[in-house]
Amino acid sequence: MILDIINKKRIGEELSYQELDTIFNGYLNGEVADYQMSSLLMAICINGMTDEEIYSLTKIFIDSGDVLDFSDIPGIKVDKHSTGGIGDKTTLVIAPIVASLEIPVVKMSGRGLGYTGGTIDKLESIPGFRIDLSDQEILKQVHDIGLVITGQTADLVPMDKAIYALRDVTATVSSIPLIASSIMSKKIASGADKIIIDIKVGNGALLQSYEDAEKLSELMMKIGKVYHREVRCIISDMNVPLGKCIGNSLEVLEAIDVLQGKEENNNFVKLCYELAAEMVSMGKEISKDEALTLVDDAIQSGKAYQKFLEMVEYQKGNVDKIKVSKNTIELKAKKSGTIQDINALELGKLSLSLGAGKIHKTDKIDYSVGIRLNKLVGDSVKKGDVLATLYVKNNVQGIKLNDIFMIR
Ligand code: URA
Repeated sequence: MILDIINKKRIGEELSYQELDTIFNGYLNGEVADYQMSSLLMAICINGMTDEEIYSLTKIFIDSGDVLDFSDIPGIKVDKHSTGGIGDKTTLVIAPIVASLEIPVVKMSGRGLGYTGGTIDKLESIPGFRIDLSDQEILKQVHDIGLVITGQTADLVPMDKAIYALRDVTATVSSIPLIASSIMSKKIASGADKIIIDIKVGNGALLQSYEDAEKLSELMMKIGKVYHREVRCIISDMNVPLGKCIGNSLEVLEAIDVLQGKEENNNFVKLCYELAAEMVSMGKEISKDEALTLVDDAIQSGKAYQKFLEMVEYQKGNVDKIKVSKNTIELKAKKSGTIQDINALELGKLSLSLGAGKIHKTDKIDYSVGIRLNKLVGDSVKKGDVLATLYVKNNVQGIKLNDIFMIR
């Protein structure tokens, strides 16, 4: 039976709900082996899935665990998801902005994957911050302060956890149908009414082409329709890292600077405004222009930063204790010119090698290490100028500066 199902997908035929249910739930129950599921996932990667199959798979994922219900909390609940990027700390900025405008936000975030960092790892760099809230605690917190950012609870879409871990090691992460059902099942099970998804494209992202990002966007909107959820997608560039900092503590501090209105208008600040405005426009059912004005006011008035601090305090963190390594290495320009490009992927690899992420599952993250870019794309530099500062624990060798900064 299992072999028949795998074979059917191998030759490009459509699988029924029943067949998908048998093999995916069989995997979760331990009746289907890793190698069998890997084989099916690869066949899906190569042959794709019909819309019907994707809807079935999304339902099977959702039904594998709890579905949160926030219907008692007044207001439209809006959630956000990013497909992952280098230096992507947008959640830390936009969730407090949106919540400070009285739109309840419950955000379940993940850990880093590959070269991309995860919001939960970033939040853990705030000493004491709790990321393991129970369903009851989440409900109480959103009721009390209107904002929660926490790790995904063990009972929320356990199927995705199991399948994602297998995809990660079988080169099947970048399948569009699998990404769509993975993301949408989690968003629907997390109880949001409306969802904004930031699809990243570029060398530091899962997807490399704009066409693939558009396909994913269409698919997720269609799944949203099936579940009566408004889904908006934006497609954003991930060839260049977001903002100036990569690494957990550094990124939290950068997010705080943006919330305090201290950062100039770089690609990170622009993306935060854009995503926050989409969420506010959905949450308040107003135009995006009206929403943008509210977002700017939330930052300039200090309301958004206050909301961030309120959340940190509620979740027992202390921003005054965030640590950044005191050992630094400066990377200096070898020639004068203008920075044409900063390679996101190379910086992701460098940050991983410093210890900001995990290379092996058992590695411990060093929250205090990372990279601060002193110059961004478009800046003019003179030979000897500091392009980036590395915050390190141990000495680092073999940095290929020319692979990271393109100066002409
Ligand atoms: N993010 C997810 O949550 N799932 C995917 O499959 C890819 C990105």
